[in-house]
Amino acid sequence: MTPIDLRSDTVSKPGPEMRRAMAEAEVGDDVYGDDPTVNRLEAMAAERLGKEAAVYVPSGSMANLIAVMTHTRPGDEIVLGSECHIFNYEVAGAARIANVLTHPLKNREDGSLDVAEVASSFRERGLHTPVTSLLCLENTHNRCGGATIPSADITELASIAHTHGATVHLDGARIFNAAVALHTDAAEIARDCDSVSFCLSKGLGCPVGSLLCGPTDFIEEARRNRKLLGGGMRQTGILAAAGIFALEHHIDRMAEDHANAARLADGLRQFEGFRPNRPRSNIVVIDLVRGTAGEWLGPLRAAGVLATPFGPRRLRMVTHINITGGDVAEALKRIDQAVAAVAI
Ligand SMILES: Cc1ncc(COP(=O)(O)O)c(C=O)c1O
Repeated sequence: MTPIDLRSDTVSKPGPEMRRAMAEAEVGDDVYGDDPTVNRLEAMAAERLGKEAAVYVPSGSMANLIAVMTHTRPGDEIVLGSECHIFNYEVAGAARIANVLTHPLKNREDGSLDVAEVASSFRERGLHTPVTSLLCLENTHNRCGGATIPSADITELASIAHTHGATVHLDGARIFNAAVALHTDAAEIARDCDSVSFCLSKGLGCPVGSLLCGPTDFIEEARRNRKLLGGGMRQTGILAAAGIFALEHHIDRMAEDHANAARLADGLRQFEGFRPNRPRSNIVVIDLVRGTAGEWLGPLRAAGVLATPFGPRRLRMVTHINITGGDVAEALKRIDQAVAAVAI
């Protein structure tokens, strides 16, 4: 039995057409700026995100870390949501490598931040205080169940940060999911942010890579920081070709992933022990009425469904390009068997 892998959208595998584009990519040494395919991907990314320039990096975590390093100076403070990826899942890179103080504000369940709290988080400049120089936002919001943050909310928060002389970075690892779900485009969502990162290796279905986009001088400095972190790669066009293919072919289809996530959540709601969220994009977060995440993972795996633990009594299931409507129906059947088989 082939498992239905709902652990993350990062588990998707490139299809034959994407692989063909990769095999046929024209390449050069990207550290010298010679790789035409990387250059094309960076230009496309900047254009799609409405920014002047972009730099291709190996991962979303590196894109975020480079953004933090480039926007701040060591000893500065950054304001961010308590549930955001930078704060929870990037091995404290902002503290360890960018040397900044992280100031988390409570994310509400829908991924939003309290406007008044954001406003009061920027410190008065003084002899004793760190400089609050950056606000980080996330859209869609992973830990908040793929929540979509409307552009108007981002505009309001960005304007507060800018009033205080700070910049704004948007972790848009899944910004195209947000754009499709909100019926807008990614540039509109990122409009008031100084920089934005997005991942190719999540809903866009590429094997690797992220882009950091922003003003030309910011991206020039970001390129230096990429080199510092060991992220300067060489004939990277082979990878970048997958990104170009995805930007051309894999954005609109994300609506299917969102519909599948909604179907999955509707099905899960029928089981007494599971309380799924109402997914806004491709992430289903399930609160467990009985048992722990650890207790459920084994039986689900045995039944042929893979999920991720997302807290002691919470699971996450993510739909992606390799999950069809039929897979969702089959996953629900298998979950039914798991529920029947265990006494949790
Ligand atoms: C919102 C968000 N930002 C950043 C990342 C980091 O991406 P990567 O795994 O490529 O480092 C992730 C990964 O899941 C994510 O969900």
